Amino acid sequence: MELALHAPGLGYYAMGTEILGAHGDFVTAPELGSLFGRTLARQLRDVDHHRILELGAGSGALAETLLKELSCEYFILETSAALRERQRERLGSRVSFIDRLPERWRGIVLANEVADAMPVHVVGWTEQGIVERGVSLIENRFSWSERPVAGELAKEAASIRVPAPYVSEIGLAARAWLRTLCERLEQGLILVSDYGFPRREYYHPQRSSGTLMCHYRHQAHADPFLRPGEEDITAHVDFSALAAAARETRVAVLGYATQAQFLVNCGITDVLAEANVENALHYAPIAAQAQKLLSPAEMGELFKVLAVGRGIDQPLLGFSRGDRSDAL
Ligand SMILES: C[S@@+](CC[C@H](N)C(=O)[O-])C[C@H]1O[C@@H](n2cnc3c(N)ncnc32)[C@H](O)[C@@H]1O
Repeated sequence: MELALHAPGLGYYAMGTEILGAHGDFVTAPELGSLFGRTLARQLRDVDHHRILELGAGSGALAETLLKELSCEYFILETSAALRERQRERLGSRVSFIDRLPERWRGIVLANEVADAMPVHVVGWTEQGIVERGVSLIENRFSWSERPVAGELAKEAASIRVPAPYVSEIGLAARAWLRTLCERLEQGLILVSDYGFPRREYYHPQRSSGTLMCHYRHQAHADPFLRPGEEDITAHVDFSALAAAARETRVAVLGYATQAQFLVNCGITDVLAEANVENALHYAPIAAQAQKLLSPAEMGELFKVLAVGRGIDQPLLGFSRGDRSDAL
């Protein structure tokens, strides 16, 4: 997964510039239009937002909206050279690009649909024990092959109780990534938005074939060997693991809610009300964005927002109702 997504010169993200949006492989919340960013800005305005670091900024759509809404210094950390170039063209000198996580950070960190692109381990719970599913090259074709689990992965896998046979993912990389971010956070707020569940739902007995998915031209399928390097490979995010990573570094979990609840709490309906209802050409696309962002059948329920932070004393607007942190 690491190589297929990120290998320089070959990986999906390393090469792709037209992967996001209607003509690409998938659409993210910021790619739908400015409604997501304008609503998010209402939460950010409520806390100290003079420095924002966006991780994995895609086409630069969210940065563009937030820079219109807020007065701030904006930094981007983007691992894909191709996407960084696209962001540079779109945003110019309004943003500063950084190559690695800062040693210390005060301010806001945003990561929308980044955690799901972190490589995962695929694990099988069988009658005979727990195995890791790896990739072999047999007669010039990739195929799954199994080996015993070891180390940290074995410990994690043993702590998950599922009925065998069962296959799922363990996202050690995403957890380590958030732990590092939290360790370096001196003061501020980290918002991670993505599709995923708390641990209890993630490893639900009925989700027995896991969440590993590929996205190619708006079609989803579950075979990562079909077009390695040419299509997205993702896994849902275990938000309990991310919350644990924050707590291990004494960073507080400040809120966890569905995307719909978060956006409603932030006042998405007020943002909608600013649109010209009389003018259908103007209003219809914005209403369509709201429908995609909020509908339980689209992004509203599956997508979640997790807020963790250090030195933030006030309750956050986005979690004023329907905070589900206690499920993590
Ligand atoms: C699914 S896209 C989401 C883009 C954008 N945030 C959006 O919502 O439209 C994932 C983005 O994360 C970047 N990325 C993947 N792994 C990363 C990492 N470890 N650190 C920073 N960016 C990363 C990819 O290059 C890409 O820009």
